[in-house]
Order: sequence, then structure tokens, then C-alpha cells
Amino acid sequence: MTTLAVVGAQWGDEGKGKVVDVLAAEADLVARFAGGNNAGHTLVVEGKKIVTHLVPSGCTYPGTRCLLGAGMVIDPEVFAEEIAEIRGHGLLQGDELRVALDAHVIFPFHRELDGLREDASGAQTIGTTRRGIGPAYEAKVARRGIRVRDLLRPDRLRERLEHNKRALEPEFARLGGGRVIDVEALVAHAAGWATWLEPMVCDAGAEVLSFIAAGKPVLFEGAQGALLDVDHGTYPYVTSSSTIAGGVCTGLGIGPTLIDEVWGITKAYTTRVGAGPFPTKLEGEAGDRLRAVGGEYGATTGRPRDCGWLDLPALRLAARRNGMTGLVVTKLDVLAQLARVEICTRYQDDLDPGRDGFDDAVPVFEAIANWGDPNLGEQVSKARSLDQLPSPVRAYLDLIAESTEVPCTMVSVGADREQTIRIGAAF
Ligand code: IMP
Ligand code: MG
Repeated sequence: MTTLAVVGAQWGDEGKGKVVDVLAAEADLVARFAGGNNAGHTLVVEGKKIVTHLVPSGCTYPGTRCLLGAGMVIDPEVFAEEIAEIRGHGLLQGDELRVALDAHVIFPFHRELDGLREDASGAQTIGTTRRGIGPAYEAKVARRGIRVRDLLRPDRLRERLEHNKRALEPEFARLGGGRVIDVEALVAHAAGWATWLEPMVCDAGAEVLSFIAAGKPVLFEGAQGALLDVDHGTYPYVTSSSTIAGGVCTGLGIGPTLIDEVWGITKAYTTRVGAGPFPTKLEGEAGDRLRAVGGEYGATTGRPRDCGWLDLPALRLAARRNGMTGLVVTKLDVLAQLARVEICTRYQDDLDPGRDGFDDAVPVFEAIANWGDPNLGEQVSKARSLDQLPSPVRAYLDLIAESTEVPCTMVSVGADREQTIRIGAAF
């Protein structure tokens, strides 16, 4: 096997950054296929924390190719800052980075529009990351988006910007921003972006195929999670891209027959930031405790995440939507520190979220037996193989695998690379 897609199985923040960082040691290419800098992947390398938003989590391995795919939206300002920061850690010293010519570009006016719309949306708020993600994807579907390739052609760029000016200035006026899109200033500014972007640009599909043809392992790095997918998530409380494994094909320009394995990442519990349904959310002290133990604050926005028990009906849906061949359970050490733990095995009246949606879902919880040993957290964080895990914790993993009908291929028991239990081979 040469290709593996790693995707979020919940509402994002499942720990994909760490998982991809561990698996990237074995890959020659790490490719992102969707999203933008709404993502925040936290990597811990030799005790140092690196947070990436656009650059694939393979960036910690010198020489590993890192590709930003065509399905992404890229804010060049953020990208430049991030590259500088990562280089400051002694990484990305070679020509590791590639950027799809067909990726769409986030301009400052997209960012402003995102914020203005959120401020004006009242009860309809999505709770976006305000990074301009939605407006950039909207421009793409409206067929006035500006792609990386357009930055290399000032005449074309000017035309596209004029189009966006006509489309967006009335909305800016209505929302009270009064923003004027200064086309010439943007063309001049974008010329600066083009200078440093040009050596990185590529045909994303051709890039991926060249690695596959050479038999080199390729990792597809998901962002956000299945339940934030624009088609299959908790619409309209979703992001604006295809976060599921299907997005690998559209976002990189390769066929589905080239994806060998799909691993879904789930926390041992559930979190969500932003608005929208969250059936297993814990209110009050129980939720606060989980947030404190798990350090559940957004890597991108710093927002406190809502926290709750693991939701098996939602996870089963994510397994189906992704065609998962493996399941990675993260932050098991966090769950092990709690005195008691429950899990949602089904929704009342056996509602199926794929058919019935999430709005009326009332979770049915079961308590996990024999949990609550005060040493459980420590035992779990020190385990390096399944048989080193205490039996109630193993039983918990078995329950998840049985319920989803997906085998557990990896378990994460802490933020460090070493705090990982490998079960199945990746490549
Ligand atoms: P947007 O992607 O900024 O448009 O935000 C849409 C929704 O997706 C909001 O609920 C965000 O909180 C959520 N979201 C976007 N990216 C992430 C992520 O990386 N982790 C968790 N939630 C995210
Ligand atoms: Mg995140």
C-alpha cells in the first residue's frame, strides 16, 4: 500500500496534527486537500510546540514534500508568516513546499467579509474562524474565485478583482463596513506574493501521481472533521469544503482508486467549537472538567471548546461517509483521568443521524465499568502497547471498534510522538 488518507471523524480538533506528524515519518509526500487556515494543527517536537494552519504536518521532517492542494483556500499573508515561523525552528530549509496552481486565494476583503457577516448574523451565527474561508469558497463556486495561477498573471488578476469588486462592494456597504476594494493596490501587493510563491507552484494531481508511480508513500492530510463537511456534516453549521475522504480526489485531482486506506481520527470523547448541534455535550461542571483536563481551547482562535462524551452514532456515520479502514483514538490519557466515563451508544428512538439529522437526537448514555482508578491516567499515558493498557480502557476501545465495525489502528496517549500505540502498519 502506498497511500493513506487521515481524516477527522468528528467536528475537527481530533488530534490529526499529531497523528499525521507521527505517520509522516514514513511518508515521502504529505498533501493537504481541503480547508485553509481555519485549521490549527498542534505538533510537539522535542518538547517544542509548533502550530501549523496551512503547511501540512509533514513539515517537521526535512526533505518530506509538503503539498497544499487545489481544494484548499490559501491566505498568502498567513502562509508567509507560517513559513517564516517554521523556518525559525530550523525546518523547511530546502524546497519541501509545493502549492497547487488551482488552489484559491484568500484576500483581505474575504477576511473582513467573514467577520462582518458573523457580526451581523445574530441567531444565525455559524461561529466561523473569521479567516475568510467561507467567502473564498463562495467565490470559487460563484466562479469569480481567484486562484494561485491568477497571481502569476497580473492582467488576469486585475480582471478577476474587478469582478469581485462589483460583486462584493454592495454587500460591504450594506453591512456597514464601507470597504472599497482597491484593485490596483491589490494587484501591486499580489505581485509580491507571486515572487515567492512562483517557485512552489505545481499541478497538484501530477505531483501526487509522480510519488505514487515511484512507489513512494503518500499521506493525505485532512482538516476539520466529517461532521463539518459541507455536504455531509451538520449543515448549515459546517465549514465550506469537503473534509471527508472523498475530498482527497476533488481536492488533489486524483481518482478514488488511488486511495488505499482511510484512517479516521476520533478523540476518546467529543469536542466542538462554533455553533450547531452537539448531542453528547456536557453542560456545567462535567464539561468544564473535561475542558480543563484536555486543554480544550482552539489552536486557531483560542476559543473554549464545548466538551462531551463520545458519540457512537455520529462516529458510525463518519465511518460510513469516509469508508474508513482504520480508526485512531486520541487523548485516551485525558479520558483516563476522569473519575467516571460514559459513552453514547445510540440515540433515543434509534434515530439515525444520516437519515434523521442531528436536531432531534437525544443521546442514550452507558457508564463504562471499572473506570476511575486514580492511577488510570498515568498508566494510560505510559502505555506503549495495547496489552499495557488497563482492561477497562481496552474494553472501551473494543466497544468503539465493534460499534463502528472499524479496527483500531493507532491510539494516542499523550501529545509527544512517543506517546503512541501502533497497532496496524500505515504503509
Ligand atoms: P469556517 O471554517 O471558519 O468557515 O467555520 C465554520 C465552522 O467550522 C465553525 O463552527 C468553526 O468553528 C468550525 N471549524 C473550522 N475549522 C475548524 C477546525 O480546524 N477545528 C474545529 N472547528 C473548525
Ligand atoms: Mg484544530
